[in-house]
Formats: sequence, structure tokens, C-alpha cells
Amino acid sequence: MRTVYVNGEYLPEDQAKVSIFDRGFLMADGVYEVTSVLDGKLIDFDGHTARLHRSLSELDMANPVTDAELLEIHRSLVAKNAIEEGLVYLQVTRGSSGDRDFVFPDPKTTPSSIVLFTQSKPGLAFGPAAAKGIRVVSIPDQRWGRRDIKTVQLLYPSMGKMMAKAAGVDDAWMIEDGMVTEGTSNNAYIVKGNTIITRHLGHEILSGITRTAVLRFAREAQMQVEERSFSIAEAQGADEAFITSATTFVMPVVEIDGKPVATGAPGSVATRLREIYIEESRKVAI
Ligand code: PDD
Repeated sequence: MRTVYVNGEYLPEDQAKVSIFDRGFLMADGVYEVTSVLDGKLIDFDGHTARLHRSLSELDMANPVTDAELLEIHRSLVAKNAIEEGLVYLQVTRGSSGDRDFVFPDPKTTPSSIVLFTQSKPGLAFGPAAAKGIRVVSIPDQRWGRRDIKTVQLLYPSMGKMMAKAAGVDDAWMIEDGMVTEGTSNNAYIVKGNTIITRHLGHEILSGITRTAVLRFAREAQMQVEERSFSIAEAQGADEAFITSATTFVMPVVEIDGKPVATGAPGSVATRLREIYIEESRKVAI
């Protein structure tokens, strides 16, 4: 049984509770982060902390912990649950005022709730999916207009994964105004020659922590990076496609809406970027 963290306490998972009035439960009024763990160490922790601060401030939500406390909680959970490879999930919600009300409660009397738990994922770095690549279908992007905030409103992304599953593939890329926004829980990329193309940042997509690192590594490897929109047709005609996230690192995409990308096998750029990302991230993991 896992040890989890809830509002100041480390507890066995079956004893950890939050109120039925918690606004995360009633209104999806909460934000989250997912940090990967390799060799028992946290990958890109500072990036996740910085994005958490941003998400909280965009929603005017109080941060219940200091950065030092957050690191300590992450590390304690990794140790208590003996996580070598896996994830730490963190969620902060606007808490419970003991009733339901659309108006935000006063943070002085209603503190935010904070919950963290680990997920063990042996094979996260060297699983079979990366060698095979994944297949995606396109679906309309029907999420809200502030996807740059990492909120727990994941019903539509969850429906997207189910649409992908129903189509017999691995994931979905979402389309708005004819252009790809991102994957259901990852950023989307294509490669043409020596150029990596991925959508520019804005309210339409989440600024991935893995995205920032991968684009930096790509530039350091003398690749060109174009941050702009692309369509499904352009992606289907590209040399390569891939996704990035804390849960997949760099994952080749080999088929889009039933059409193979190039040869239908993982491309050399995605494969190389995956190696670089994992290798470099391991070196600076904390
Ligand atoms: N999802 N875009 C969306 C919509 C996401 O949900 C995520 C992450 C990303 C990639 O962000 P990062 O590189 O910081 O993980 C992009 C997490 C992993 C999840 O929901 O499980």
C-alpha cells in the first residue's frame, strides 16, 4: 500500500481523505503537476514548481507550501514508496469552505488543499512503446480557452483518450481552426529535414516542461526550431512526428489518422532527442 501526502500528513492511501465540499471535487477548481522520477530522483523539478506557481497565480489560488517544503514532500514520498522509475502526482485545490458556492472562498479562512501521491512505472525510460512509436487520431479540441493553466479539468482529454482507444490507436491530437493544438496530455511536434516544428505558446496549449528542455537540446544539437501551427495534412507529409511529456519523455508518432508518417517507423530525430533528453535529465535530476 502506498504512502500518500494530504494536507500536512503522510498517510496510508486508504486513510487519506478530502472533504466532499472540496472545490477540486465540486468544480474542478484545482491545478496539478506530474513530475517524473528516474533513478529515484526528480526530473525537471524546478520547471514543474515554476509552472505550478504560474497556474496558481493565474487562478488567484493560494499556495499552501513553500518550494522547500514541496521538494521535501516529493523526496519523502519517493523514498517512502521506494520509487526508482515513476511519477509524483501533485494537486492543489481551492479547498473546502464547508458548502457549495460559485464565489471563491476567502483564502484566509479556507486554505487550499494539497495532495501528492506516487505511481511506480518500471520501464518508463526504456519501455517498448518508444521503440515502436505510437499511433494517433485527430479529434476536435473542445477544451476551455485557458489550456496554458494546468487545471484538473481533464474530462475532455480523458474522452479524447477513449476516442483514440475506440479507434484502436494510442492517443489523439486535438484540432482547432484546422491546426493541431496538442495531444490529450502531451505536446505535438513534426520534423521536416533539419527543422522541428511545434505550436507556439499561447492560451491554446500547455507550456510543457519537457517541451522547453527538448527544444533547448534540439537547438544545442544545431537543429532549427520553428514554433508555429501545423495541420494534420502537413504532419502526415512530414519526415517524423513525436510527442513530449513528463510521462512519455520524447515518444515517436508513427501513424496519424491511419496514414503512416514517412516509413511508419520511429524517426532518427525523435529517437536521438529521446536519448539526449533522458541522458541529460538524469545528470541533473535532484
Ligand atoms: N500532462 N499538454 C498537455 C495538455 C498536458 O496535459 C501535458 C502534461 C503536456 C506536457 O507537459 P509536461 O512536459 O510538463 O509534462 C502538454 C501530464 C503528464 C498528465 O496530465 O499526466
